[in-house]
Amino acid sequence: MSAFIDLAKKRYSVRSYQDKPVEEAMLLKILEAGILAPSACNNQPLAIIVVRKDETRKALLAAYERPWLALAPIVLALCCETSQTWRRSDGKNFGDVDVAIAMDHITLAAAEAGLGTCWIGNFKDAEARAVLKLPGNVEPVVLTPLGYPASQPPVKKRKRLQDIVHWDHYGGKYQ
Ligand SMILES: Cc1cc2nc3c(=O)[nH]c(=O)nc-3n(C[C@H](O)[C@H](O)[C@H](O)COP(=O)(O)O)c2cc1C
Repeated sequence: MSAFIDLAKKRYSVRSYQDKPVEEAMLLKILEAGILAPSACNNQPLAIIVVRKDETRKALLAAYERPWLALAPIVLALCCETSQTWRRSDGKNFGDVDVAIAMDHITLAAAEAGLGTCWIGNFKDAEARAVLKLPGNVEPVVLTPLGYPASQPPVKKRKRLQDIVHWDHYGGKYQ
């Protein structure tokens, strides 16, 4: 258990990357971690675009204008095949949840391998779709660079357990 907590502590949002390639075998293992993620009804509505071409990574800056995005040798775009998502009977769509779990697996697997990632949700949808040539039924959910960090992990800022966890009912205290 503590190995997992240590890994979760090791992962942080990396916004600076070394100019160093990622080994192919390592990339494939990290992608496998994403594929192993659970999904609602096991529908697996995930599509992962692995962007390695220099010109495509740079073109993605039109969708997210931070130079560090294109500094890493790889950018992953985690997308949702919207026709394949599971919907609850009240209509709630779990596609984003499924993609987020896969992204979490990927970021943790990358951290274990000594690689950096950063969740990017604040990108321009239309620009990302155009660069990645996504058909209308494929929604880009989150982007991440993938590469060797050129930064040091900051101290994690998190709420305290008692600010987030409620016991037995909302507002219930620990006893
Ligand atoms: C859904 C989601 C979207 C995010 N979008 C962005 C983003 O667009 N740009 C960015 O720099 N960081 C983004 N982040 C990273 C968060 O700012 C970061 O995870 C948070 O500050 C905690 O820091 P840590 O990842 O270093 O632990 C996002 C994180 C999540 C989970």
